[in-house]
Amino acid sequence: MTVVISLGGIFFTDTERIKEVAAAIDEVDRSRHDLYVVAGGGGRAREYIKIARELGANDALCDYIGIALTRINAKLLISALEDAYPEPFLDYIGAATAKVSGGSERIAVMGGVSPGYTTDAVAAILAEYVNADLLLYVTSVGGIYDADPREYPGAKKYEKLTPEKLVAITMKEELKAGSRIVIDPVASKIIERSRIKTIVIDRTGPHTISDAIDGKHCGTELSPDAVTTYSARK
Ligand code: UTP
Repeated sequence: MTVVISLGGIFFTDTERIKEVAAAIDEVDRSRHDLYVVAGGGGRAREYIKIARELGANDALCDYIGIALTRINAKLLISALEDAYPEPFLDYIGAATAKVSGGSERIAVMGGVSPGYTTDAVAAILAEYVNADLLLYVTSVGGIYDADPREYPGAKKYEKLTPEKLVAITMKEELKAGSRIVIDPVASKIIERSRIKTIVIDRTGPHTISDAIDGKHCGTELSPDAVTTYSARK
């Protein structure tokens, strides 16, 4: 399978977290799965965006600052992975072309691409471009909820959802540089049009990523023919 993994910025806070997530990626059997990984910017990106905004930078410039931070995180991840291409790819074509010419067993890593969205959308566009079989979001909240679980402890997690329902949920969100949303509205529209199978899971423990690729997870699954169900667990 061709799999695009989107890693939330939460995985780049310290050495141990980076090692942990790199190990979870390294254990995926690459003779069976072709992997692309997109790194998020996390708290550091938000910190730099906040400073830039206080200095009077507009949203596009703030976005470029966020992109720079995601690319730094991509470099950190590359340092921790066993067999990744040595530099983050700057665009989708670069990543896909390298895989075709340089070998599909190496992991292609990238960060952000252009202003106006987040690495959620980068992962969705990349997945569409390479005709991925699976788009996997590894997040700090572990799935899609009917309200932000960080603000509303009673929020319910969806087990299954259609892309149309995801679009309805995410279109309520504000898309400002550095905003905190589980899947951004651009990503949800791309998922809707590409009909790609998408899973949103929690932060990794050992095997979490390989298990999700094999269909074992307790996050939220998006598929065009899903009947909306809520998870019994949070
Ligand atoms: P992230 O993808 O990290 O956003 O990009 P996020 O939603 O905060 O994700 P987490 O919390 O890390 O999981 C950080 C910022 O970089 C800019 C945006 O401003 C985004 O908020 N960015 C990133 C872009 O403008 N374009 C991109 O392609 C990627």
